[in-house]
Amino acid sequence: MKIDGTPFRSIWQAADGTVQVIDQRWLPHELRIVPLRSRADFAAAIRDMWVRGAPLIGATAAWGMAMEMAQDASDAALAAAHAELNATRPTAINLKWALDRMRDALLPLAPGARAGAAAALAAEICDEDVGINRRIGEHGAQVLRDIAARKGRVNVLTHCNAGWLATVDWGTATSPIYQAHDAGVPVHVFVDETRPRNQGAQLTAWELGKHGVPHSLIVDNAGGHLMQHGEVDVVIVGTDRTTARGDVANKIGTYLKALAARANGVPFYVALPSPTIDWRVQDGLREIPIEERGAEEVTHVQGRDPEGRVVQVRITPDATGARNPAFDVTPADLVTGLITERGICAASAAGLAAMFPDRVGG
Ligand code: MRU
Repeated sequence: MKIDGTPFRSIWQAADGTVQVIDQRWLPHELRIVPLRSRADFAAAIRDMWVRGAPLIGATAAWGMAMEMAQDASDAALAAAHAELNATRPTAINLKWALDRMRDALLPLAPGARAGAAAALAAEICDEDVGINRRIGEHGAQVLRDIAARKGRVNVLTHCNAGWLATVDWGTATSPIYQAHDAGVPVHVFVDETRPRNQGAQLTAWELGKHGVPHSLIVDNAGGHLMQHGEVDVVIVGTDRTTARGDVANKIGTYLKALAARANGVPFYVALPSPTIDWRVQDGLREIPIEERGAEEVTHVQGRDPEGRVVQVRITPDATGARNPAFDVTPADLVTGLITERGICAASAAGLAAMFPDRVGG
């Protein structure tokens, strides 16, 4: 996607061999591009959320393995890089998916052949992500076109940032929005602010604005009210891990939006790239690990002060502690459909198996 007219991906390899990412902790106030040079850099970038979003976490981990292979291509380094990167964040399955794919491709090779193969595979994983998300957008845009044909325009509600910043390009939940908008469909997006880290307010609002998509930021608690009053035509969110029977883990608060959507007859879609399916698990509530993050994300908020500095300010009494579960699970029966790169299917074991007969059980 473009930033002020310049095409960008969220991660790329520079001519000097370093991998460059947008350090998303500073958006929307500052566009900082940083090089990642070592395994420790890659682990910190994922753990501390310089980069985030399930597909981008996977792509970054793949490049982390590639960087390790360029510096030490031994079996021990391969295993250590896999273990260190895999421990950075627990919920997005794309992390393990990308690391396993890299390890399984590299382990059979002689150490001398690993660096080149690793860089080629990391680049391939990134290119695949772009293609998957473009196709998700094509299928999802049809949903938006159909609604707009009936209603004259379409109001989408989205949660967190499942935008191009969360992927290598296009985004998942935003890809249908970008493609419909580019095709002239009158789309407007309600952007949940997404406390505690405000990925909606800071990232989704920024990227939609840069692309010229009409949008309104709303507090997380406003969605139910807007749905009751017929102001939301469809909800589209992303996912960090979807089980083989269609239960969806996504950013905390997604479940509440799904409940409100069901109560108000609003279709609730999940944009789902196939690497985000965890075929080994069925019951999302019991089998998906939910990341617990630090209390300071809840007790503080980040913003820009009048002098232009990006600062954290406390919003609670000094002594107040907090719980901070970062994801929740929306049971499959609340999901209208899964928008995958192969088309839209039911959020059920049968729906996913019919869409991915070559992957089921894998
Ligand atoms: O904690 P984050 O910012 O990594 O959470 C991101 C989300 O919850 C996204 O909705 C999800 O990763 C899908 S990204 C296409």
